[in-house]
Amino acid sequence: MAETIAVKDAWAAGASLSDADYRAWYEESVTDPEGFWGRHAGRLDWVTPFTKVKNTSFAPGNVSIKWFEDGVLNASANCLDRHAAKDGGRTAIIFEGDDPGESRRISYAEVLEEVCRMANVLKAEGVRKGDRVTIYLPMIPEAAYAMLACARIGAVHSVVFGGFSPDSLAGRLVDATSGFVITADEGVRGGRKVPLKANVDKAIAIAEKGGQKVGKVLMVRRTGGDVAVEPGRDLWWHERREAVAPTCAPEPMGAEDPLFILYTSGSTGKPKGVLHTTGGYLLYAAMTHAHVFDYRPGEVYWCTADVGWVTGHSYIVYGPLANGATTLMFEGVPTYPDAGRLWQVVDKHQVNIFYTAPTAIRALMGAGDEPVTRASRRSLRVLGTVGEPINPEAWLWYYRVVGEERCPIVDTWWQTETGGILITPLPGATALKPGSATRPFFGVRPELVDGEGKPLDGAAEGNLCIADSWPGQMRTVYGDHERFEQTYFSTYKGKYFTGDGARRDGDGYWWITGRVDDVLNVSGHRMGTAEIESALVSHPKVSEAAVVGYPHDVKGQGIYCYVTLMKGEEGTEELRRELVLHVRGEIGPFAAPDKIQFAPGLPKTRSGKIMRRILRKIAEDEPGALGDTSTLAEPAVVEDLVANRQNKR
Ligand code: WTA
Repeated sequence: MAETIAVKDAWAAGASLSDADYRAWYEESVTDPEGFWGRHAGRLDWVTPFTKVKNTSFAPGNVSIKWFEDGVLNASANCLDRHAAKDGGRTAIIFEGDDPGESRRISYAEVLEEVCRMANVLKAEGVRKGDRVTIYLPMIPEAAYAMLACARIGAVHSVVFGGFSPDSLAGRLVDATSGFVITADEGVRGGRKVPLKANVDKAIAIAEKGGQKVGKVLMVRRTGGDVAVEPGRDLWWHERREAVAPTCAPEPMGAEDPLFILYTSGSTGKPKGVLHTTGGYLLYAAMTHAHVFDYRPGEVYWCTADVGWVTGHSYIVYGPLANGATTLMFEGVPTYPDAGRLWQVVDKHQVNIFYTAPTAIRALMGAGDEPVTRASRRSLRVLGTVGEPINPEAWLWYYRVVGEERCPIVDTWWQTETGGILITPLPGATALKPGSATRPFFGVRPELVDGEGKPLDGAAEGNLCIADSWPGQMRTVYGDHERFEQTYFSTYKGKYFTGDGARRDGDGYWWITGRVDDVLNVSGHRMGTAEIESALVSHPKVSEAAVVGYPHDVKGQGIYCYVTLMKGEEGTEELRRELVLHVRGEIGPFAAPDKIQFAPGLPKTRSGKIMRRILRKIAEDEPGALGDTSTLAEPAVVEDLVANRQNKR
């Protein structure tokens, strides 16, 4: 049994909430959600106050989620104007470049002006309330400006991670019917350039074949590298920003008006456009940011995620800025120029709260303690993790070596769909257990069910559902409400199904065990096995493919591909390399397969369904644990798969 780390006096001193507070608040939040959230919604500025708090239903065929539905507000005004009015000189964003020699502090007044200018450029170029604007930018302040400029005028942003390929970007342009892109000439990461504008050019050509025309591209000059400029379509931000006014009145938005779409992978089909709306999302992001990190005025907060993922949306931009915090944006990678970079940045900017992914922790743990201990790290007060299960060894290294047992660790479990953190410790309130996300946040009612949907009580392991709505919950799949209901509410009727497995221990603590569907989590990047399979079969030499995950020391999960070739093709090393490059090109570098096994046949049932359970066991190098193979159409294929497995220890 894992040890429990009690709340230290130093953590409790000055913390916004104690354990008793947590219990009382939680109790109120689930017995009287209307009263609880109605009161806490006061942390936002409303143009027109709401009269109704919660109007939600998880009922089959009638899923509908509305919070604060008649309230009116603007997200960018909540993130900027009210802080700029009070204390415009306060730093909103600290930018730390890829190059350790480059950094900059940008005040609330300055961010507000840049956002207004960008909003005015968007308006001048014809963007209207409700239009979708696609943002494909590196980790530079302009990414935050672009999101908030959209929010200011009521346009719906769709941020696409800069690591996605032109194909993936094109798919998202088409699905969102987005005719406006904001990008940069190039990005820089770890000293290497990423050809963002060139990717956009390719994506626009592909999207046009898919029926979506992109009329305008606003380009941020980041590197000054050479890019093709199409007159009339492509505009430079640094030129246009001079030509517009520095102020722009925020558009009054209904609480349920869309704020953004963010694509995420599921177990089947193409990525889904997760839609978040304005009031509930912003409140939930702000509230969780304030309490999960126990943010205190004046502190420097750093989340190392990319704005292309939901963590960047909620915990680099919206949550921290809604709270008037100082948020650090880091353009680079943890290992450049060396494995001490993160801690050097912590010292340089006196970071108090640091939030990263287990994969980064494991990678840095592999580089030893010296790059950490070389830095002082005295400013650190709270450490957080997100994105994948954290193994107790990595948790303890983070706790002992990085935080010197001074800093509580908040292991935060949540999803793109949830908008914000759902299960997490609160620093100063929650006793910790390495590897456990501990307890639900306010208003969150997690439940465990077995395969048949039967609720499991007490200490148990099963499928993780949430019994009732919380304000940050996604509202729909963009353009496909039926898919929303089907994906999240049909497996266990009347409950939101997360796709994760979990265990609840005797103390009521939650331990996330990982996905129970065909979604992989590779270095905290979420992807569907179906997407990788369809990338593989789009190669002319591939006839069939099946992809599974296997445990990987650093990445959490590795990508294991079984590939059946077209008749007459030979499974050479060269073809293996070619397929890896092919998948990188189709999806993005982060989806590169770790293992490819050429398989003459795949194990299928007599009805033709691939038996993934068997493929997973082989990939995990557990050929002794294949279980019942008697229902296979051709049991012999398994022998070949076992004999040629790529992960043999
Ligand atoms: C996994 C990222 C264990 C989980 C915010 C979830 C975690 C998926 C944790 C969502 C955690 C996220 N412990 N697993 N603390 N946080 N996950 O949408 O499987 O990119 O379903 O959102 O990541 O990934 P997404």
